[in-house]
Amino acid sequence: MAKDGSEMGINTRLAHSGNNPRDYFGFVNPPVVHASTVLYPDAASMAARSQKYTYGTRGTPTTDALALAVDALEGSAGTIVVPSGLAAVTIPLLTFVSAGDHLLIVDSVYHPTRNFADTMLKRLGVEVEYYDPYVGAGIAALIKPNTKVVFTESPASNTFEVQDIPAIAKAARAAGAIVMMDNTWATPLYFKPLDHGADISIHAATKYPAGHSDVLLGTVSANEACWKQLYEGFCTMGCCSGPDDVYQVLRGLRTMGVRLAHHQKSALEIAGWLEGQPGVARVLHPALPSHPDYALWKRDFCGSSGIFSVVLNGGGQRQQHAFLDALKIFGLGYSWGGYESLAVPVFLGDRKIAKGPYDGPLIRLQIGLEDVEDLKADIVRGLEAAAAI
Ligand SMILES: Cc1ncc(COP(=O)(O)O)c(C=O)c1O
Repeated sequence: MAKDGSEMGINTRLAHSGNNPRDYFGFVNPPVVHASTVLYPDAASMAARSQKYTYGTRGTPTTDALALAVDALEGSAGTIVVPSGLAAVTIPLLTFVSAGDHLLIVDSVYHPTRNFADTMLKRLGVEVEYYDPYVGAGIAALIKPNTKVVFTESPASNTFEVQDIPAIAKAARAAGAIVMMDNTWATPLYFKPLDHGADISIHAATKYPAGHSDVLLGTVSANEACWKQLYEGFCTMGCCSGPDDVYQVLRGLRTMGVRLAHHQKSALEIAGWLEGQPGVARVLHPALPSHPDYALWKRDFCGSSGIFSVVLNGGGQRQQHAFLDALKIFGLGYSWGGYESLAVPVFLGDRKIAKGPYDGPLIRLQIGLEDVEDLKADIVRGLEAAAAI
């Protein structure tokens, strides 16, 4: 394999990146290093901190294996591994914004990101402003002399608007602002933020990388310009992750390509079928040709994952709850990216701009690895229950 393996197919790279089996007696998988203390051979090396590993919070062979694998996928200069997807949002924000800075956040952002900005960042003196996911190059008009970061998430949480990341990044870079992107939906397999002009790519590795609804983890990958500051912020905050969880995510990465391909196929089949079902007003899935953002998605993304929303044709919370309560296979629970299908009611009450109008209540579906016909039958149960109200 070439040094960075970049000319190889994605599943080959997922199978082999991160650790070198020859570094550990030929065992295929890396050791799970449980560590706080690292011993130094003498006082001089202790004073110089010259050895590769210095203390457990700053990295271990286990975290390095995952970080290097993610770097190979993202094309990043470095990756930090943090305890949750939410930490993967808050740590870079805390690292790069200061009191008096202006922070632009897409209005359709994952709700806990908004909550963090509106509470902790505002308390610390950061000026927070939300912008339209369709702003594109128009972001230039919102950027002020003190704008430090433009935070993006594409497609949007729950409503799946696609942002024009290259246009936003161009305007931000011209003004000296950093672009961060929550790229959890696409994973680096289907979208590479740094190749599209972003500086920092954020992932809830809890979702597709972990893939089994049993681990919380986040990764943050930076380009050369931002890496040193990101790593220093990470070390300063001590937000390291437990080695067993890190290992589980590295394990998940090996199969992420084949799992994602299955999620993609099933989700697209169900989304397309749903468009013709009675009781459905719209399906919010950017890889459907009928979706207003289809052209943008096709221009920038090379795949779609397994989560989208459906808008019911009229009704309100009673219809939404009837749909959800009739489901037998879809579980009612937060998160996504695991092997099992999930459904949640969508709440847009926190939005200032990207809030519709929609014809009826929204339900977000995570399409798992089950058989499509069984999932369709379950959804029909939901639609019939909503229509019966
Ligand atoms: C887009 C997005 N970013 C970040 C997160 C946070 O991930 P975690 O649940 O690991 O904190 C989520 C979780 O649902 C998410 O949907």
